[in-house]
Amino acid sequence: MKTRSWLVIPVVVCLLGAACQSARTQSSPQPQVIAVPQDEMTKPPGTQPAGPAQGNTAPVMQAPPADPGTGPKKLSYNSCNVEGPYIALTFDDGPHATLTPKLLDMLKERGIKATFFVIGQNVVANPQILQRAVAEGHEIGNHSWNHQAFTKAGTTGVTMQVTQTNDAIENAIGKKPVILRPPYGATNASITKRLNEEYGLKVIMWDVDPLDWKYRNSEKVKSEILKNTKAGSIVLAHDIHATTVNAMPETIDALIAKGFKFVTVSELIAMDRPAPAPQASPASVTKTP
Ligand code: NI
Repeated sequence: MKTRSWLVIPVVVCLLGAACQSARTQSSPQPQVIAVPQDEMTKPPGTQPAGPAQGNTAPVMQAPPADPGTGPKKLSYNSCNVEGPYIALTFDDGPHATLTPKLLDMLKERGIKATFFVIGQNVVANPQILQRAVAEGHEIGNHSWNHQAFTKAGTTGVTMQVTQTNDAIENAIGKKPVILRPPYGATNASITKRLNEEYGLKVIMWDVDPLDWKYRNSEKVKSEILKNTKAGSIVLAHDIHATTVNAMPETIDALIAKGFKFVTVSELIAMDRPAPAPQASPASVTKTP
């Protein structure tokens, strides 16, 4: 696969909280853009949500990671280039004792499949929720043990974060995950390579981020997702925030009305195909830095 890596330098933009617009401007037929994944990275000190993902280190800006996802064997994805209106909704930081089941109810009502990037210690606390999610067709991915940034964890720390969570997931649902989203999206080429080679994990970023952890506003969550989602998108959200979960019925119904179809991340990756040359779609060419 011929995919070009476009390093984006959104640090200042991220600091301003309007993070990483560049990642949103890409459309699916374009090259992968490895932007600084913001997740909660831009969260100012003291605004960590009360909840199971506590234990986070202070938010730290990461330099844009080198893109280890290019080349014949992709190790990471921000989005996919697919034929057809397929997207993957992803929910991080759970499972949450009450909000995740509520979200599962909404997804079940609509026959929608999603992907949950879970925190290991939350899995141990709520294994039955994970079992339900899998029984209803959703995919489970690793999102670390306690949301420590891998780039700050050291080799031993990363090993602990990955293996304890993999084990917790396997104990709950009988199999290890094949995908991982690093907390804050913080990774680098060597960590990503190691995750793949040692654990068989693909690193999953995102191209649509409603900054739901920041705004805590259901209307904003909905409008941002609807504005930015394209075929092949990987949509980031968090099922530990009531405002996010409450936004989902209208958001999903609107996405359905737009014709989108929902698959798990692994299903989306399986549909990924080589991107055409960047100039092939002039109407949607991204302005490069
Ligand atoms: Ni997270």
